Formats: sequence, C-alpha cells, structure tokens
Amino acid sequence: MSSHLEKDAVWESTIRGLLYKQLFVYPPDLPSTVRFEGKSAIVTGANGGLGLESSRQLLERGLSHLIVTVRTQEKGDIAARQLMDEFPGARVDVSLLDLADYDSIIAFVDRCRGLERLDYAILNAGMQRPNFKRNDRTGHEVILQTNYISTTLLATLLAPVMKDQRVDRTATPPVLSIVGSDTMYMSKLKTTGSVFPVMNDEVRFQGFQQYMDSKLLLMMFTVRLAEQYDPKDIVINVSNPGLTYGTNLGGDDHKSGLAPLIIKPIVRALGRSLAVGASVYVHALVLNGEESHGSFVSDWQVKP
Ligand SMILES: NC(=O)c1ccc[n+]([C@@H]2O[C@H](COP(=O)([O-])OP(=O)(O)OC[C@H]3O[C@@H](n4cnc5c(N)ncnc54)[C@H](OP(=O)(O)O)[C@@H]3O)[C@@H](O)[C@H]2O)c1
Repeated sequence: MSSHLEKDAVWESTIRGLLYKQLFVYPPDLPSTVRFEGKSAIVTGANGGLGLESSRQLLERGLSHLIVTVRTQEKGDIAARQLMDEFPGARVDVSLLDLADYDSIIAFVDRCRGLERLDYAILNAGMQRPNFKRNDRTGHEVILQTNYISTTLLATLLAPVMKDQRVDRTATPPVLSIVGSDTMYMSKLKTTGSVFPVMNDEVRFQGFQQYMDSKLLLMMFTVRLAEQYDPKDIVINVSNPGLTYGTNLGGDDHKSGLAPLIIKPIVRALGRSLAVGASVYVHALVLNGEESHGSFVSDWQVKP
C-alpha cells in the first residue's frame, strides 16, 4: 500500500510534476528473465492502442495463452490475426466484452470460470469524450459507466475467479491490474454523498474533468477491493501508462473542432510512445509485486 507516500501527491498533481514525468522519466529495462511461458492473460480493449501493444509485449516474452477482449468481433479478429502473424504458435483467443452492458460483463466472467488458469488480467478498456452522453440501458453518463462502474463490476467479479483458479500455490500470485490515469491527481471531485447525482449531471459535465474523476474513483475503489484480498492470493493494483500518443483515446470526437489543432500536437510533444506507455502495464504485472497491492503503479514504480 502506498499511503506512506501521501506527502508526494501534491507534486504529482502539479503541471511541473506532470512535465517532469513525461519528459525526464524513462522506463527501466525489464530483465530478460521476465518470461510468460505457460501463463495466460486477459487484456481488455485490446483491438488497438495500449491494449494491443501490451498484448504484443506479453507475447514477445512467451505468453502461452492470450485472451483479447473487444466489443466488435471483427476488430478482435483483425487484432488476433495481427498478433498471431507476429508471434506464430501463440494462442490468441478473442472474447466479446462490452462495458456498456452488465450482461456482457457477467457472461464474460462466466466464460473465464471455464479457463484452466488465469495468471494476469489487464483491465485496459476505457474511454474519454468531450460531450455528455448517457448509457441507454443504465442511464449513467458513459465515461462514468465505462471507466468506473463497469470496470469495477468486472474487477469485482474477476478477482475471485483469478484467486480460485490459481494453479501453482508456490509460484507468484495472479495479478489483476486495472488501468487508471495520473490525471486523477488533478481531479476536483467533491461530494459528501453519492457520486452518481454529481457525475450524471449534464449541466456540471466537462469531458476531461469527468475522465479524471472516473479514474480517481477507480483508484479509490481498488484500494477497497484490495483490502478484501491477501496479496499472497492475488495482487490487485492500478497501472498508469502516462500520457501516450498513437492511441484512439477520444476517438472520432477528437477528429474535429480544435482538438486536432491543439490537443493532438500537445499529446505528440509530451506523450510517450505506445511501447513505453504499455511497458508500465507489464511492470505492474511482474515487478512491483505485493508492494503494489491496492496501489498506483506509474512511471514503473509505486506512487502515492
Ligand atoms: N492514451 C493515454 O494517454 C492514456 C493515459 C493514461 C491512461 N490511459 C488509459 O489507457 C487505457 C487505454 O487507452 P488508449 O489510450 O489505448 O485508448 P484507445 O486506443 O481508445 O483504446 C481503448 C480501448 O477500450 C475499448 N473500449 C472503449 N469503450 C468500451 C466499452 N464500452 N466496452 C469495451 N471496450 C471499450 C476500445 O474499444 P473500441 O475500439 O471498440 O472503441 C479500445 O479497445 C484507457 O483505460 C485509458 O483511460 C490512456
């Protein structure tokens, strides 16, 4: 747990802190002894961006069975084909998972129960958009729905499955890594009661603020979820790739207006490459160990 690092949180939330991390902190080498032969992993939202790149990095180190989750079968088939072409002999399965739909999450976890083993899960799927939109089924605003409510449901259901499926009790425990963001340090979310009325309020809504708030809530949730588990049975952490270019975050919404003129050049100037951003996920799975349980792994180390 990283509560002893609380004093450093102020620095993390400053612009100077952000610039320093993005421009002057480099990934340490991952030892060549880190190998994944015989292991299996899930990466959600793996049809592109950081999900696809982290899938690639796991396969590069010998992962035996990868399950990529997507919300469109066709996108999943393309990603799986790409990965299998690059890593012949790897087993890559595609599984449908739509975080907009609770039934889809429950059905996905049911399928996971049938797996022989599940060593790692990277809950990477997430979204960001500038405009307010509600989920038709639940009525919640979609950033809140995807990044927080549905991701926490998935984590809550998946953690006991991973714990129970642990094959080798002498080996390191399974790791469930939920992808957050260091933008959470800049969240200004304040409420004394339920977060739902505040975050579902269309008048208050501001897209990027909602994104930061959703990631802060995700971190707070993970602290509590981790308290339910002994890190000797399963390690649960939050990993942060840092600002990364070359992904589709914001999607089509960032292809019009001022976004291509302002946001994209800033992300390109300050952002990490996909390979560097995704390498934090792999660190969070193997190098930060029990220390990362209930904590935030960012810049390849446990942070406040
Ligand atoms: N890029 C950054 O600078 C950055 C920084 C910090 C944290 N992150 C986090 O890193 C993660 C990956 O982001 P990225 O930058 O790689 O973005 P991305 O390229 O847009 O990838 C996001 C993935 O999530 C999937 N997804 C979105 N909504 C979903 C839903 N309702 N159900 C299932 N899957 C859904 C997308 O699927 P579709 O292709 O079908 O939309 C896509 O596969 C996110 O959690 C993001 O918040 C990114």
